[in-house]
Amino acid sequence: MSAGNVTIDRVVTSGTFSLDGGTWDVDNNVWIIGDDSECIVIDPAHNPEAIRQAVGERTVKAILLTHGHDDHISSAGAFWELVKAPIHLHQDDWMLWRTVFPEIDPDVAIMDGDEFTVAGSTLKALHTPGHSPGSVSFHLASEATLFSGDTLFQGGPGATGRSYSDFPTIIDSIRTRLFPLPEATVVRTGHGDSTTIGAEKPHLDEWIARGH
Ligand SMILES: [Fe+2]
Repeated sequence: MSAGNVTIDRVVTSGTFSLDGGTWDVDNNVWIIGDDSECIVIDPAHNPEAIRQAVGERTVKAILLTHGHDDHISSAGAFWELVKAPIHLHQDDWMLWRTVFPEIDPDVAIMDGDEFTVAGSTLKALHTPGHSPGSVSFHLASEATLFSGDTLFQGGPGATGRSYSDFPTIIDSIRTRLFPLPEATVVRTGHGDSTTIGAEKPHLDEWIARGH
């Protein structure tokens, strides 16, 4: 199925998330996609040194950020110092980025449909706003895998109760961009356990009815 020997590693890191004056303890999933020589890192949160150790001697081709919430991005600068790979973030979340890094912009604005090649496979960016305006999911079709950030979790959509979030928008993103993917697609999330498109799809109407 895959062109090469693609590996997907998860590093779980711990820290805090702050927005709207509150702060919460969180565990984040950091995803490393690659092979023996190169990799791409998604959301290098909280513990840059642990992530660099998981990367090992491999070249980091890109740092991809699923969205601009500070638990996902606040260690991106320190991780950049370790690996010097370009940082990508959808422009609609740069206002969140600037609350953490007022002096510097991300290197590249992610556009819907952008493709990132690593280890002979391709990650495709799907703009899935709702949790935040610039939330992006990454589809690794060769491995039947979706990296959903905080857009889709086991049991429902990402939170939409705080600033810059919108529930109808996240539902629309999930319905039109994610649920058309093959049901066997493994959904690897920004926090917590993985799920599949097929496991979540039957519950869309329940989520709409409950409103979160
Ligand atoms: Fe988030």
